[in-house]
Amino acid sequence: MVNANIIRAARAILNVTNLEESRRFYVHALGFIETDSDENHIYLRGLEEHIHHSLVLKKSDHPSVEVISYKVFSDDDLDTLSAFFSAKGLEIKWMEAGTQKAIGRTLRVQDVSGLPIEFFAEMETVERLLQRYDLYKGARIQRIDHFNCAVKDVEKAYKFYIEELGFSCSEYTTAEDDKIWAAWLHRKPTVHDVAFMNGVGPRLHHIGFWLSDPMSVIHTCDVLASLGYGASIERGPGRHGLSNAFFLYLRDPDGHRIELYNGDYLTSDPDFKPVRWDLDDPMRQTLWGHAAPDCWFNEASTVLNILSGEAEMIGDPILEKKKPTIIN
Ligand SMILES: [Fe+2]
Repeated sequence: MVNANIIRAARAILNVTNLEESRRFYVHALGFIETDSDENHIYLRGLEEHIHHSLVLKKSDHPSVEVISYKVFSDDDLDTLSAFFSAKGLEIKWMEAGTQKAIGRTLRVQDVSGLPIEFFAEMETVERLLQRYDLYKGARIQRIDHFNCAVKDVEKAYKFYIEELGFSCSEYTTAEDDKIWAAWLHRKPTVHDVAFMNGVGPRLHHIGFWLSDPMSVIHTCDVLASLGYGASIERGPGRHGLSNAFFLYLRDPDGHRIELYNGDYLTSDPDFKPVRWDLDDPMRQTLWGHAAPDCWFNEASTVLNILSGEAEMIGDPILEKKKPTIIN
């Protein structure tokens, strides 16, 4: 296992086609704090976040995902990870300090599933707005929580993140043959920083942002409806069996999926036992029993190659036609 300390899921860069439309959705409707912007980027954060941003919207001709990023404990961890990934034969790319706004050098890698991931240790800090209740708007977004990714081989991803990167499993789903169908993995002591589920991949299914309470989730629906964004509400609000999350799934103007998320639990104890779910358990996806729309199972964001900038090739999952897969 690599001797590097990964702290948590920390930011994502989404390519979007119209910055003003994205600003209207993310800032004016959802209430993200706009830390900074230029003609090609908008840098957003939640109310409790003390770092410059947790979400970058980047102007592009096509919607896609440039990277999903993890914060590590120290700059030395980046060198350790670089040597580790190179020894594994994975493609890496350094982004030197100064090439991206507000962030130190970063290490990018195409992981074992083909996902573009990034590690960084340092980002500029800004005012934490947790108690500026006068600035609370829309969804009252507090912080980034997790990534959910569709991959071809969940067991391969699971083993790499657990055995090589030091993640822990909080909950997982198994099929009849006891193969891992989906897994929720964490470094910070919550249910997850990243989830992998069997699907056409590699793709990003959604980014989860944490809200302080279920009423903020419900209030978001009212605000979105008032602003004409009713059609952006894809699924929920509801309660997942898996993770216990109170959830709402939204589609942004480019189709990227955002989850508003509340209600998971502490996973810090070393003797915590991962929760196992059967694929056929009806309470796994939605505790209350209502079905998710087909688009939620079938649609996800394209991810890019860290070197070429081209879309990563996606492949059919082993069991794709058997059953919809993505859960949380
Ligand atoms: Fe999620």
